[in-house]
Amino acid sequence: MKILVINGPNINMLGIREPDVYGTKTYKELTEFIKSAFMEMGVEGEIYQSNHEGDIVDRIQQAYGEADGIVINAAAYTHTSVAILDALKAVGIPTVEVHLSDVDSREDFRKVSYVSIAAERVIKGKGFEGYREAIIYLASQKAD
Ligand code: DQA
Repeated sequence: MKILVINGPNINMLGIREPDVYGTKTYKELTEFIKSAFMEMGVEGEIYQSNHEGDIVDRIQQAYGEADGIVINAAAYTHTSVAILDALKAVGIPTVEVHLSDVDSREDFRKVSYVSIAAERVIKGKGFEGYREAIIYLASQKAD
């Protein structure tokens, strides 16, 4: 089983960006955390990050026939991108949406998520742990 984790714009700035909202741990620490969750669940995994909407669409399309599950934190594109939603619908790969922060308790524009329309589950406000929960969920689904 292979799980693809996709992180969108500015997630690479973790540790630097708005530490009061996103904490002080870095993106590298996030990737190490995600890799340990892959190992814990015994799944093959890949981590992809891009600041560009079209590149994220391309990566989702490439996942067709290759990945069994997608974990996506589309970051700001969550709230704007019909293109990412359509790509997720096109490939039909079971998807979990993750947000580090609790988007529902922030600005109103963060309460809208196009990604949610294609996601089986949404995990928000749990920091790094949200990625682990998403990986456990997808890995367990496959085992059923
Ligand atoms: C985020 C929340 C988004 O609203 C924001 O644009 C991000 C990160 C989160 O992980 O909490 O960049 O997806």
